[in-house]
Amino acid sequence: MRLMVTGGAGFIGSNLIHYMMKKHPEYELVNVDVLTYAGNLHNLKSVEGDDRYTFLHGDIRDRAKLEPICREGVDAIVHLAAESHVDRSIEEPDIFVQTNVVGTQILLDLARQYNVSRFVHVSTDEVYGTLGSTGLFTENTPLAPNSPYSASKAGSDLMVRAYGETFGMHVNITRCSNNYGPYQFPEKLIPLMIQHAMQDLPLPVYGDGLNVRDWLYVEDHCCAIDLVLHGGAKGEVYNVGGRNERNNLQVVRTILDELGKPDSLIQFVEDRLGHDRRYAIDADKLRSTLGWEPKHDYESGIRETIRWYLSNPEWLASIKSGEYRRYNQSHEQDGG
Ligand code: NAD
Ligand code: DAU
Repeated sequence: MRLMVTGGAGFIGSNLIHYMMKKHPEYELVNVDVLTYAGNLHNLKSVEGDDRYTFLHGDIRDRAKLEPICREGVDAIVHLAAESHVDRSIEEPDIFVQTNVVGTQILLDLARQYNVSRFVHVSTDEVYGTLGSTGLFTENTPLAPNSPYSASKAGSDLMVRAYGETFGMHVNITRCSNNYGPYQFPEKLIPLMIQHAMQDLPLPVYGDGLNVRDWLYVEDHCCAIDLVLHGGAKGEVYNVGGRNERNNLQVVRTILDELGKPDSLIQFVEDRLGHDRRYAIDADKLRSTLGWEPKHDYESGIRETIRWYLSNPEWLASIKSGEYRRYNQSHEQDGG
């Protein structure tokens, strides 16, 4: 199997590459990533030089750049490349439409032209919008995105669906809840709060801190993607989530407790515009049809994650100093 992973230098993409190389040692992996601020080749240092792994520095919107690899033959694409941060989408929606919608359409077109057998689109539960205090998102929940980010992901989901329906391609969509774990860019809640707590900086909690997210350890998401890639029924959507609902204050307090820091570091700040109140996922379809079971419970997963950031201070430091961008640049020409 020759597998193309887009966005492999990001948080979930790099975890997925490590996961797939362990799980399927016979696979060849091609990582296509343009290395935005969120792409970090430090995440993949341990596989650099492995014959089974190739890095292609390219934009998913750059058809000419991706064509040679497709011409050589690609069996499947797992598509993660995206602009992924809600706050940035409020500041600068344009690039979200460009990357997430236009980029996905160009990739689909390439997959169609070069007869790629499987296309797994990694989407998000945010396309369903927000929940009240009860209920869960199922695959039949209507799409009702509330941020430019989630709207652009919903747009890409519809494009994937359309290519499946119109051209008969074997496409799947996964919609996962919030991930946490190693290599997450410190703009997202958990690594940001860990970084601030480690430095005794204020922890900025939006609004009343009672917004709820359904947290999943990233490796369990990778396992779900692997199952969908190999067993997903043509055209189907699969929700992914472990029923670990926590409000943001609970998450932040766990981090402070684990680091032995005082609650007084918490600073309530202005709320995010259009802030979704609650996400919670019904993943029964994935469990019952593909046998998925998360291996990590939230309590141990979050502690393991905090310990990972504590034991890898140089990873956070290289982002803060910008060193990771210099490292990326040194790999852009030689293919990493
Ligand atoms: P991330 O921001 O950490 O990584 C995104 C990667 O995509 C980066 O390496 C970046 O360089 C690359 N990229 C961006 N634009 C590109 C382009 N035009 N061409 C090629 N590469 C490009 O994101 P993440 O958190 O790892 O999320 C990965 C995917 O999973 C996204 O599609 C996101 O919507 C989805 N998702 C994320 C979560 C989560 O909790 N993080 C949950 C569900 C779904
Ligand atoms: O649900 C899946 C989604 O989860 C993914 O599709 C997105 O790519 C990913 O970024 C994530 O989106 P969220 O907006 O839920 O994640 P974020 O880490 O930005 O925020 C989590 C919660 O914490 C949210 O309620 C906002 C809040 N928050 C976030 C930050 C960065 C704060 O209170 N303070 C902060 O500084």
